[in-house]
Amino acid sequence: MSKPIFVTGATGNVGQAVIALLSEQSIPMRIAARRPPIESSSSLAQTVHFDFTKPETYAPAISGCRAVFLLRPPAIANTKQTLNPFIDIAYESGAEQIVFVSVTGADQNPFVPHHAVEQHLKACNRTYTILRPGFFAQNLGDAYRTDIVADHRIYLPAGTGNVCFIDARDIAEVAVLSLCFPEQHQGKGYTLVGPEALAFHQVAELLSQQLNQQITYVPASVFGYWRHLKKRGLPTTQIAVQTVLHFGIRFGQANIQDRTLVELLPHPPRRLSDYIRDHLHLWQLSPH
Ligand SMILES: NC(=O)c1ccc[n+]([C@@H]2O[C@H](COP(=O)([O-])OP(=O)(O)OC[C@H]3O[C@@H](n4cnc5c(N)ncnc54)[C@H](OP(=O)(O)O)[C@@H]3O)[C@@H](O)[C@H]2O)c1
Repeated sequence: MSKPIFVTGATGNVGQAVIALLSEQSIPMRIAARRPPIESSSSLAQTVHFDFTKPETYAPAISGCRAVFLLRPPAIANTKQTLNPFIDIAYESGAEQIVFVSVTGADQNPFVPHHAVEQHLKACNRTYTILRPGFFAQNLGDAYRTDIVADHRIYLPAGTGNVCFIDARDIAEVAVLSLCFPEQHQGKGYTLVGPEALAFHQVAELLSQQLNQQITYVPASVFGYWRHLKKRGLPTTQIAVQTVLHFGIRFGQANIQDRTLVELLPHPPRRLSDYIRDHLHLWQLSPH
């Protein structure tokens, strides 16, 4: 049996989709989890205890793996003291390849935590691939979900800016392609965005059509949005990150036209309407 692929972020949006694809293709994997075991339908999956904040878990977990699917958890800000030492141990332990989920523009932006990881991967001079996705369609099912379900609205300081949402399932497909064909994808940095630019009033229309109930986009001021997230109980750092990211949409930061995803996938990229159709249960609406 071939050596397994080490999968981080396994309970998250991209990691779950990676696990599903590896299972479908009967590829052995080792699922890294803070709270094992994690259910998998694959008999070729094994779960190990792993935590980026506990360096003592790195070497025992990664030993014997051939490659790593690397995801930076949103709560991990200091990647220099977590992901980067893990990368060193992974390569020292015999991993031949790392596929890292970064974010659009991280190569040019030293203020995002992914930047230091990208720099480190390049400096290691080993086999790696960097995926730089834009806004996930899955944000509708997590970050925006409470507002949609409880208030029947999307409330963001994004103005009329457009977003080219990408489905995390498409990111996972590119990750698995990169893991299966390391030579073809070695040293590449792929900007990955979805096929259509949508403003949030259009997103609200798509939700309204498929949920058969009116969902409205209410543009927020920066102050109003900050206060809203504070009331929802989010930690200040997360409020700051979400506010900056969504404010940037006003200035075209998420309106990125790029054909890389179209060229890499064997099928047309998923549209936001596909994501909504496949996840209707997430927005079972409460009555007004
Ligand atoms: N959302 C977007 O629009 C967007 C766009 C571009 C890039 N990104 C990037 O994509 C990444 C998020 O991907 P995602 O949405 O798939 O993640 P996610 O759904 O938020 O899941 C995070 C994963 O990390 C794990 N995790 C959390 N803390 C950990 C720790 N200390 N040690 C090990 N694992 C830990 C979680 O496991 P538990 O079950 O143990 O919590 C979970 O499996 C971030 O780096 C983000 O910046 C996001």
